[in-house]
Amino acid sequence: MAPRPLPSTGAVTGLLETVGFFRDPDFARRRFERFGNVFETKLLGQPTVFVRGGQAIGDLLAQPQASEGWWPASVRMLLGSRSLANRNGAGHRARRRVVGQLFTAAALRRYTPGIVALVEALVADLQTAQAPVALADRLRRFAFAVIAGVVLGLEGDDREALFIDFEIWTRALFSLPLALPGSPFSRALEARTRLLARLKQVLTRRPLPGGLDLLSGGLDEAGVPLDDDDLVDQLLLLLFAGYETTASSLSCLMAAVLQHPELTPWLQADLEGLPWPPDDREAPVAPRLDALVSEVMRLNPPVGGFFRRTTADLVLDGVAVPAGRVVQVALAASNRLRNDGSSDDDLDRFRPQRHLDGDPGLTLLPFGGGERVCLGKALAELEIRLMAVGLLKQVPLQLLPDQDLGLRLMPSPSPRDGLLVLPSTQAPPGPRPQPAGTPPLRG
Ligand code: HEM
Repeated sequence: MAPRPLPSTGAVTGLLETVGFFRDPDFARRRFERFGNVFETKLLGQPTVFVRGGQAIGDLLAQPQASEGWWPASVRMLLGSRSLANRNGAGHRARRRVVGQLFTAAALRRYTPGIVALVEALVADLQTAQAPVALADRLRRFAFAVIAGVVLGLEGDDREALFIDFEIWTRALFSLPLALPGSPFSRALEARTRLLARLKQVLTRRPLPGGLDLLSGGLDEAGVPLDDDDLVDQLLLLLFAGYETTASSLSCLMAAVLQHPELTPWLQADLEGLPWPPDDREAPVAPRLDALVSEVMRLNPPVGGFFRRTTADLVLDGVAVPAGRVVQVALAASNRLRNDGSSDDDLDRFRPQRHLDGDPGLTLLPFGGGERVCLGKALAELEIRLMAVGLLKQVPLQLLPDQDLGLRLMPSPSPRDGLLVLPSTQAPPGPRPQPAGTPPLRG
């Protein structure tokens, strides 16, 4: 069958489309409903093809030779030209091999005690808190401490200074890349210079701190060791990729648990089988906790979508997409569409059990897929598991009333008022009566 022509929104400048893209959480979804699973619009004057659903995404990822990585100019410039995020082909693969050494099973075993210590510090603070704690902020600090402290070995003042510059840098990531004096973008470029200098300084320490010794022997595509300028761009990418994303999934997870008290007794079966502190054995299975994490990431994916640029003509879900087009893989919209193309209210509902009821008929790729699949997936999963178990087993929390639990979406979803909590005065977590009207959880 001949491919169908690419539907278009008809946007000319793309100005309104760009505002909508950043502001409207349903931007892509509404257009998908109107134009189908593959359509074209303009963002900041750039023709951009949006795709959703297992078929279109599968078609794209199955033909890696026909597309390459792509980022908006602001992200490209702030990450730097050496960053593996901005590379393709052999140069990209070689750097993935180097950076991947930080995330092997043996590396994660080494990081576990450091991560557990950070969880315990938060637990102690929460247990003794006399005033409301903004849990989302604390979880951001935790995720930053894991990547900057446990993995990259920065501690104390070094880490604090890095954090401040990193916040300046992050704020400009999805802004107009205009380096006018005093603009957020030019401040971010200055912060980038300081961040790289600090990271480079860490590489001179002996012994190398954190997991950095694992990188020794890393070779580029020509078999030459990566120089320090190259290496620090990869380390900066790890801070960018590994921090807000993990913090977002943790905040949304805790918000879900606190907003759905019926989850606590349901999770008990898993929590009882999970030792705390964890021991050296392989992580025990925790199907309900895993289902909860999957459902939280389905409804509020930390990365709502990622980009590619086509390098050859492609057919995605039966639609012709020409070479040279930027493609936005809309994960958030895909998560509410079944593989058979159907969608209904049930997919808007928070229902963790769907992941335990056999195949939910969805394509869920919170960590992306194919040759650029998330490098830090195993670390993120470890952080989420350790923080969830450490908190849920040890500190009963309650939400402060009258706060805005709606999510700000950029750079990753997070409760607007910071998820204000207090230690609960109730008994420690254990089976609680079901609130009236709540259907019992199965699975
Ligand atoms: C819940 C947490 C996380 C989520 C949801 C997530 C998701 C993603 C997604 C969707 C991509 C893009 C994949 C693509 O373009 O096909 C990605 C790429 C990447 N992620 Fe993650 N990520 C998370 C945590 C982390 C962590 C903790 C690290 C490392 C410390 C990390 C490092 C990376 C890197 C380096 C890439 C670029 C891979 C490449 O271009 O080859 N991520 N991640």
